Amino acid sequence: MSELRPLTKAEAQSLGPPDWKHACHALLYAPNPGRLFGKIPLRFAVLMQMRFDGRLGFPGGFVDPRDISLEEGLNRELCEELGPGAASLHLAEKDYLSSHASEQPQRVVMHFYAKQLSLEEFRMVEEGAIQAKDHGLEVMGLIRVPLYILRDGVGGLPMFLSNTFIGNAREQLIHALDTLQLMPAEQLQKAVRIAQKRH
Ligand code: GTP
Ligand code: MN
Ligand code: MN
Ligand code: MN
Ligand code: MN
Ligand code: MN
Repeated sequence: MSELRPLTKAEAQSLGPPDWKHACHALLYAPNPGRLFGKIPLRFAVLMQMRFDGRLGFPGGFVDPRDISLEEGLNRELCEELGPGAASLHLAEKDYLSSHASEQPQRVVMHFYAKQLSLEEFRMVEEGAIQAKDHGLEVMGLIRVPLYILRDGVGGLPMFLSNTFIGNAREQLIHALDTLQLMPAEQLQKAVRIAQKRH
């Protein structure tokens, strides 16, 4: 696992080419009034993807020299990986959450964003995803994150957190669920504890 260092956005932006590459990823979410089996509150729909390398991660990617800003790069990557439903998302500076620097296996600064959608907008992204340029290539499919713990005590978020994630995507997910208050803090802590014990 790579060492990760939290950075302010200003610090992060002082790390320039050719030494450092920059990547931006985003968590898209929508309030979800639905209930699983008519009973268990779903709380929010939260979007992640199965990557080409078999790891879970968020949509997004490397910012190229052709992108005039981090957000421009992020929006380009979202269009490539999510397809036509992402064209109107327009993530902006106000959606920025955090930056981390990683030195291994290469020097990358990873920026993280989050944006709330309506459930209809969220579903439009899901429906457009199989039209995406990278569908079946970089992206093997979209998934929703289960934000509950089933009665067996492990099903749901604890099992989900036991998957393998790219970079610090797992920490990004846990931190976002906490700060955006997408589930009760004590449930989230419990899920993280259970996932830890299974290791
Ligand atoms: P290419 O077009 O093939 O280069 O891929 P990409 O531009 O889509 O890049 P990718 O999404 O693979 O991410 C670029 C870098 O960020 C890689 O070094 C990954 O390790 C890292 N990364 C990928 N997904 C995530 C994520 O969800 N969270 C974090 N923190 N890092 C990620
Ligand atoms: Mn990409
Ligand atoms: Mn990507
Ligand atoms: Mn890549
Ligand atoms: Mn790319
Ligand atoms: Mn690509």
